[in-house]
Amino acid sequence: MKIHIKHAFCSSSESYDSSCDIQRIVAEHLAELLPDGTQDRILEIGTGTGIFTKLLNEKCGSAVCVDIADALLAKAARQFPDNIFICGDGEYLPVGGEFALITGSSAIQWFQQPEKSIPAMLKHLKKGGKFAFSVFVEGTFVEMSILNQMTGFGSVYALPKEDDFARIFEGCGVSVNKEVREYVLNFESVSGFLKKQKGTGATFSGKDKVTSKTSYKKFLELYPELFGENGKIPVTYRILYISGEK
Ligand SMILES: C[S@@+](CC[C@H](N)C(=O)[O-])C[C@H]1O[C@@H](n2cnc3c(N)ncnc32)[C@H](O)[C@@H]1O
Repeated sequence: MKIHIKHAFCSSSESYDSSCDIQRIVAEHLAELLPDGTQDRILEIGTGTGIFTKLLNEKCGSAVCVDIADALLAKAARQFPDNIFICGDGEYLPVGGEFALITGSSAIQWFQQPEKSIPAMLKHLKKGGKFAFSVFVEGTFVEMSILNQMTGFGSVYALPKEDDFARIFEGCGVSVNKEVREYVLNFESVSGFLKKQKGTGATFSGKDKVTSKTSYKKFLELYPELFGENGKIPVTYRILYISGEK
């Protein structure tokens, strides 16, 4: 399964930066939740091309950046020579020692065993250390989920439930602050939205994707009919911002 996630993200290396509208918005808000001032040792998980890394560098200093997708990481590495880049799995951290800050934007919803890997990750946080993550949660792509049931096209990756995810952090002996924000972005067309979505590499759904042309056509027809507003195609994203201290 991880190999499919990695391939999907690697294949987006040329399109990610021009497609990641929601990830940019989310990264901006997560940056506001970061602690002020330079932090000792920082770990960023799911760096991608470095959209959030730039904000993190500016606010807290250079991080050790981990991502499973080497093609995206290579792009980030070219921009930020002072950071350390490690291609690896955030669920089996390829780093040693403790960090003053562990963070990551729009990434850890891809963890396959968060109930094990989040506690393991927080073991790398030093006493008094801070963490801050943004996580795409259930409720994202609510329109597409409904249409998928009606047409068979547009299967959606099973995103974590916000309460389940928060409970994992709460069970780790850290203080936890939660905030959920819902964003609705409006696209010019259904195909325009699908193209952008594909451009970010977030295409792995874990489900069989063999669909007919008829179901695709039906999806294109029904989306504006059921959800269209003023000629635009709304897409809902639900984000959990979770931060705290050990
Ligand atoms: C939507 S992108 C977000 C990238 C960047 N943080 C941003 O805000 O634009 C998700 C990133 O998480 C990475 N990722 C997914 N699963 C991962 C894992 N288990 N360990 C490390 N990185 C992972 C993907 O390769 C991808 O670069």
